[in-house]
Amino acid sequence: MNFKQRLATLIDFPVKDEREIENLLMEIEDPKMGDFALPCFKFAKELRKSPVVIANEFAKTVKKDEIVEKVEAVNGYLNFFLNREKVGEIVLGEIKTADNYGKSNIGNGKTICIDYSSINIAKPFHIGHLGTTAIGNSLKRIYTELGFKIVGINHLGDWGTQFGKLIVAYKLWGNTVDIDGGGLKELQKIYVRFHVEAEKNPALEEEAREWFAKIEQGNREALKLFEYFKKITLDEVKKVYDRLDVKFDSWDGESFFNDKMQPLLKELRQKKVTEISDGAEIIDLSAYDMPPCLLVKKDGASLYATRDMAAAVYRKKTYDFYKCLYVVALQQNLYFRQLFKALEIAGYDWAKDMVHVAYGMVSLEEGSMSTRKGNTVWLTDVLDKAVEKALNTINEKSPDKENKEQIAEEVGVGAVVFSALCNNRMKDIVFSFDRVLNFDGETSPYIQYTHARCCSVLEKAEETKTQKPDYSVFNNEESVVLLKLLNIFPEKISEAGEKYEPSIIANYLIDVAQAFNKYYFENRILGDDNDKQAARLMLVRSTKDVIAKGLYLLGIKAPQKM
Ligand code: ARG
Repeated sequence: MNFKQRLATLIDFPVKDEREIENLLMEIEDPKMGDFALPCFKFAKELRKSPVVIANEFAKTVKKDEIVEKVEAVNGYLNFFLNREKVGEIVLGEIKTADNYGKSNIGNGKTICIDYSSINIAKPFHIGHLGTTAIGNSLKRIYTELGFKIVGINHLGDWGTQFGKLIVAYKLWGNTVDIDGGGLKELQKIYVRFHVEAEKNPALEEEAREWFAKIEQGNREALKLFEYFKKITLDEVKKVYDRLDVKFDSWDGESFFNDKMQPLLKELRQKKVTEISDGAEIIDLSAYDMPPCLLVKKDGASLYATRDMAAAVYRKKTYDFYKCLYVVALQQNLYFRQLFKALEIAGYDWAKDMVHVAYGMVSLEEGSMSTRKGNTVWLTDVLDKAVEKALNTINEKSPDKENKEQIAEEVGVGAVVFSALCNNRMKDIVFSFDRVLNFDGETSPYIQYTHARCCSVLEKAEETKTQKPDYSVFNNEESVVLLKLLNIFPEKISEAGEKYEPSIIANYLIDVAQAFNKYYFENRILGDDNDKQAARLMLVRSTKDVIAKGLYLLGIKAPQKM
């Protein structure tokens, strides 16, 4: 229930605008002072009275409602104390339909394309891809919860001159035995070697260009190798995606748009939006204080932007999106502003529906893993190490636990994902294994642990047969704090969706876990009279359901035991 909305209906102001009052109402942090407060300062001028007097007068005229226990005027604020029994009954009643709690239909009939992860073929799947993969996956789940239809797109980087280099390197130093066995790391090795050798022998660069031209012309040998590199990459990244429980609806990468660029360019020329500058074809953006959007190079080659423009047009045609999101590092901010502006100039009115969901950089804490210059930190290695550390902790805490490996996988991988989601996404983060795996910190292991604690209480509880849960057990601060938090879960989901900000859910879950643990330590849940226990168990179950769904929305598993 939206308590603010309900409270707003109780106040008979001369200013007859419930919306305004709803917006003015604020949550009180300290439950001793009440639950919601209405600051009366804004009305002083109009009513020609001091806020203190106004608050006092209003306190007397507030309409009665079963959810309000009492109202108090304090220093120009009108403080509402909710009836905690009623709050319990209402909130827990709403969460009962666990699956639906938080679901909404605001997205019904609308499609959102999310371009995320978008790795590059034959290049490392490294820690830098964590942000886009985790944020994209979480947004996908959040919007699905809000009723949108989602098209998750891995816009593969599978085009460009680097494939010519890779072919040359492969022919000189590669073989299928090593590469089938060593995968991406092996491809990376010969690719790096190419650059070292090309320094000494520039002819290699020329050879690479020729091979890339052959790929473009559809030469069979070149294409076969290209497809081989692609397969090696995809087989390997799919294993990582499985661990992260990330799925895509489309893998249409850059090469998919090869045959879609010419028709687009033709259209742009007809509309006279491109021009030739220094032999290259561009869209001039000087009126917008941006460098031009380069579409065709002097030598006739297309660019990243050309393929992205073709991809945008294709997505609109194919999916008729309501919005198209690009979860890509903040470094590409200018690039996306150029791209969106170019689309707008080209006359696509839907350019306004494109959003660059940018995020900051992840770096590793010194010494936590080899980050020496030029050394790639592979995402799988980070996951492995986190899982290993989680397993160590579990071994220390409860060596006899069943299913330890599985739990460690869910905790370790979850902790890495959570680290990419718990801060405002624009913020740069320094990743530390010890910090993200701290079971008592503001971490996902802490949230998962709280969830497992709820499960364990519920498991121990005997089936209580009661017709009438006794909500009077919620007559204390810890209960009402927790109940009010559970109550705002749906709002948090919409807010996270509106702001493209999974961190809103991540932080919310930390609050819920902390509030629950406080509740848990101060209330005996099992063993009281049946009706009371029933009410408390409802609260535990609701907390468990909210945490489980919240973690799901972040792309993190919620083990039953830990
Ligand atoms: N593959 C690119 C990179 O690693 C990201 C692609 C993002 N998506 C896009 N449509 N441009 O930088």
